[in-house]
Amino acid sequence: MKNIISTNQFNKEEIEAILSRSFQMEGDLLNHKAEKILKDKIVACIFFEPSTRTRLSFETAAFRLGAKIISAENAMENTSAFKGETIEDTTRILCSYSDVVVMRHPTSGTLEKATIVATKPLINAGDGANQHPTQGFLDLYTIKKEHGKLENLTIGFGGDLLNSRTIRSLLPLLQHYSGNKFYFLSPKELALPRDFIKSLKDTGVEFEELNNLEDKLPELDVLYMTRVQKERFENKEDYENVKDLFIFRKEYLNKMKKSAIIMHPLPKINEIETEVDLDPRAAYFRQAQNGLYVRMALLAYSLDL
Ligand code: NCD
Repeated sequence: MKNIISTNQFNKEEIEAILSRSFQMEGDLLNHKAEKILKDKIVACIFFEPSTRTRLSFETAAFRLGAKIISAENAMENTSAFKGETIEDTTRILCSYSDVVVMRHPTSGTLEKATIVATKPLINAGDGANQHPTQGFLDLYTIKKEHGKLENLTIGFGGDLLNSRTIRSLLPLLQHYSGNKFYFLSPKELALPRDFIKSLKDTGVEFEELNNLEDKLPELDVLYMTRVQKERFENKEDYENVKDLFIFRKEYLNKMKKSAIIMHPLPKINEIETEVDLDPRAAYFRQAQNGLYVRMALLAYSLDL
């Protein structure tokens, strides 16, 4: 039984195995040969925060592998959490009904807490601004699929770096690969947290922080844009002040390499002009689709199948 709580828990060998399993899942699914390896298993999905892609791709992944699903969405209101039940008790109950539990929660560290009482594998589908490991894997898979490699790439991260759990999940995975250079492009108010910067410095990776989205675009192989995470702001005015500071405009496409890709974990609000969607370099819908294959692989991984 394996929990998937943070991308920091994986070594390079495990990361490579999960990537190749994901490629295999994609091939099998496209050839209508996906094996029902989760037949007789029950996957519980409990989401205390809104989700479109993560929950529905997990449920699709489970179906494709032959599992049955029990699901609680809007769980803050629709489960006993509303009455004040602790996360530990809710976790005990879900583990007593199902074989693997996929959980999203607004509070950082909740999944870690839940593992103490869990008797079945837990998969973190996002805990506050902390981690979203399955997104990290699907992002890594997307870069590998689009560029054919994970080394010697220049990758720009743009937008709300302060609150992005997806960036905090992807970076530890990318650090296993050599020769990459990172640019962190954000308004000052939304820069990566200082403790995270310090830990990056300690690992010796090459990176630079800039308060401008445009200047480095010609150098990038990947631009990874993010949404300003409205739900993490305590003060509405603070959100209003920063929400439109970094917008990728369609004319910026001219500055980018032909081979570059633009990624985004989605949902996007207005941080990428909609005309950009039509450019073949806009990889975000392909990226979301990759989530299905990667989550098939991760469900199998968590159950040692
Ligand atoms: C992300 C998330 O929930 O962290 N979305 C996702 O899972 N695809 C990013 C976001 O909500 O902005």
